[in-house]
Amino acid sequence: MRIIVQNSKCQGHARCAAQAPHIFKLDDAGYILLGDIEVAKEEELPASRGARSCPEHALELDRAPG
Ligand code: F3S
Repeated sequence: MRIIVQNSKCQGHARCAAQAPHIFKLDDAGYILLGDIEVAKEEELPASRGARSCPEHALELDRAPG
């Protein structure tokens, strides 16, 4: 699974990082780092929780294989 990060929508709410700090890394100003996130199989649950927790819908789940 992959998380597509739409950085332009991030407002620094940090709810994603509160759910899964090892998956959602923030910069010094509290915004999500640039770039999509590859998620290992065993991390899919916390990753999808974190993605859904974003009130700005900046984190989109991509479950397409490959
Ligand atoms: Fe940004 Fe949403 Fe996380 S606004 S810091 S991507 S909860």
